[in-house]
Amino acid sequence: MKKKLKYLYDEMMELRRTSWAKKSLLIASFVLILLWIIFNDTFCAFGGLSRRIVLNRIRLATHIHIERASALREVKVEEIPLDNFLHLQPNTTKVQVVSLLANNASLKDNTVDVSPKYKILRQQGLIPSRQLPSALIIGVKKGGTRALLEFLRLHPDIRAAGSEIHFFDHHYSKGFHWYRHRMPPTLEGQLTMEKTPSYFVTPEVPRRVQHMNPGTKLIVVVRDPVTRAVSDYTQVKSKRPELPKFEERAFVNGSNIVDTNWAPLRIGVYARYLERWLQYFPLSQLLFVSGERLIADPVIEITRVQDFLGLKRVISEKHFYFNATKGFPCLMKSEQKAIPHCLGKTKGRSHPYIDPMAIQRLKNFYRPFNQRFYQLTRMDFGWS
Ligand code: A3P
Repeated sequence: MKKKLKYLYDEMMELRRTSWAKKSLLIASFVLILLWIIFNDTFCAFGGLSRRIVLNRIRLATHIHIERASALREVKVEEIPLDNFLHLQPNTTKVQVVSLLANNASLKDNTVDVSPKYKILRQQGLIPSRQLPSALIIGVKKGGTRALLEFLRLHPDIRAAGSEIHFFDHHYSKGFHWYRHRMPPTLEGQLTMEKTPSYFVTPEVPRRVQHMNPGTKLIVVVRDPVTRAVSDYTQVKSKRPELPKFEERAFVNGSNIVDTNWAPLRIGVYARYLERWLQYFPLSQLLFVSGERLIADPVIEITRVQDFLGLKRVISEKHFYFNATKGFPCLMKSEQKAIPHCLGKTKGRSHPYIDPMAIQRLKNFYRPFNQRFYQLTRMDFGWS
């Protein structure tokens, strides 16, 4: 700038000493030079501002990156609405930032998933966030729901809550925010799941699930209601050994009348509960898994489930082996490390001896309900 002014001064001195024709030529060039100086500096000023904005963007990105890398729970980024952006003070250098995560709530409450599965993604600055489930295993109790969930967890695109959350039956008043925070963190493209078998039989649940998301995919694992009842009874008996014999509890006062007030028997009338669900969801949104086939041929059932959920068929025969001691299929969790994994002792218990007459009476009782269930589901489970 100084040089430019000195040049101008010299030109003016020269002007005093020259003819009029030369003078007008020099004045014109003087005006041109002056204009050049003004414009050049103005552009420099604009250039300076834009450079400052770029620098601040870089600083901000680095700031976010550092915070993520150190696995902090909160990413402190000042978000400015676009309208306000136009009214900033000339000297403040704030930048419009669009959150990289789905919404602000997940920004604040996001817990970084530390499982090795996500190590590479974390290194790339990707942080999983918690979502409401888009698929639920709603029942039935003792149908094989835990086995199905454990099998599904092998899929890299599925993340499922480990325990039964009981949101739609016991904790509904706590709200969806509470529910979402019981879910595991997921990355974009991953599916969140939960299983609570009592959902299938609880009257308020279909309406509540529909309210959360009418597109929720629903999976029901069903099993011969008689075996299911015995399994249910075996579980209760393991906690309350004083419980009377199954046959004594199943029939009213030693008669032939089935005691449908008794929960282990009531739950087996699947058609009744399904009719309620079908008032809120189309059949196409429900998948019925055969509990028997889940034991005899888990690959067939798990393939059906993966297809239903719109996922790649990742879980296959190489993930299963039959454990003769347990008498159930168990999992090979990793292809690299051959670590077998069977379900715990409470899954696959041996059942007590039940009088075959009682079993036959119960089969007769359930037959019409099973037929109705086959009609509704358009599937024959072969229980009769
Ligand atoms: P039993 O223990 O009566 O045999 P849920 O998980 O819904 O409570 O169902 C438990 C039932 O899952 C078990 O009932 C068992 O029959 C069945 N099951 C299905 N596949 C299994 C597996 N791979 N390992 C253990 N149990 C399995």
